[in-house]
Amino acid sequence: MEKILITGAGGQLGSELTIALAEEYGADAIIATDINEKAKEKFDYCTFELLDVLDSERMTKLVKDYQVTQIYHLAAILSAVGEKKPLFTWKLNMDSLLHVLELAKDGLIQKVYWPSSIAIFGTHTPIENTPQHTVMDPTTVYGISKLAGERWCEYYHQKYGVDVRSLRYPGLIGYKSAAGGGTTDYAVNIYRSAISGETFECFLEEDTYLPMMYMPDAIKATLQLMKAPKEDISIRSSYNISAISFSPADIYQSIKKHYPDFRISYKPDFRQKIATSWPDSIDDTQARLDWDWQNDFDLDKMTADILKHIA
Ligand code: SER
Repeated sequence: MEKILITGAGGQLGSELTIALAEEYGADAIIATDINEKAKEKFDYCTFELLDVLDSERMTKLVKDYQVTQIYHLAAILSAVGEKKPLFTWKLNMDSLLHVLELAKDGLIQKVYWPSSIAIFGTHTPIENTPQHTVMDPTTVYGISKLAGERWCEYYHQKYGVDVRSLRYPGLIGYKSAAGGGTTDYAVNIYRSAISGETFECFLEEDTYLPMMYMPDAIKATLQLMKAPKEDISIRSSYNISAISFSPADIYQSIKKHYPDFRISYKPDFRQKIATSWPDSIDDTQARLDWDWQNDFDLDKMTADILKHIA
């Protein structure tokens, strides 16, 4: 039987991915963990354990006690928050990944999922249809840690046969949990302003295109990748994955179709520079070829779905 431990389960992605994993493998198979005690409230349907991912002894103990077979290591500090504490972001993002990879190398777990990000790309990366293999010169500590992490994942696979799989997520948009301190968070927060009748103040300029993805597509891609036969996985660093590309002006227009009086104002801050250094759109041919990736949601379909649920 699979036993699946999720780190950072209380976060934006973790909250929804943990539910999907429980549906897929049964709630008995799931050990949700988070550093935040309050996260426990979200997990009345499965086991919950407190875990600071920098506490490697406790992580090892949980893996042994529950006879964990797979880890989804989601805990990380994202791009915007990371710039406020660069050295701690590096430590948390890297040390925790290396410990997870060591557990897999030692045969304590059989499979690892670890998210990478479009933040690994930088100012010299081609911005349109960014290829899988290209220039990567990240400007944020988050992006640097994700790029280094990708290299470690491939290294552990090549050297020790660790079955580690990864996706370079675009900005993830969901309505069930708050966003976690990233540069793409505006596209999560904008919907609630629209339904509460407030003017939305956007921290990016109106024509800033970024790759984005609706949460159900992100969950689908993650499960699909993790279930794919080993032989089909040709990328062991991290797969480019794409769904939608839009700017703040585009999402605003999409919402206006439902809320014609909705207003937006633009007040770019330090996140503008980060967003400008990231691609506008991503070429994910390899994911489509290797494990039949296909997204379901475009911008208008996502907008309609989110507004229907939160209105
Ligand atoms: N959504 C993330 C961020 O903005 C990108 O991986 O930091």
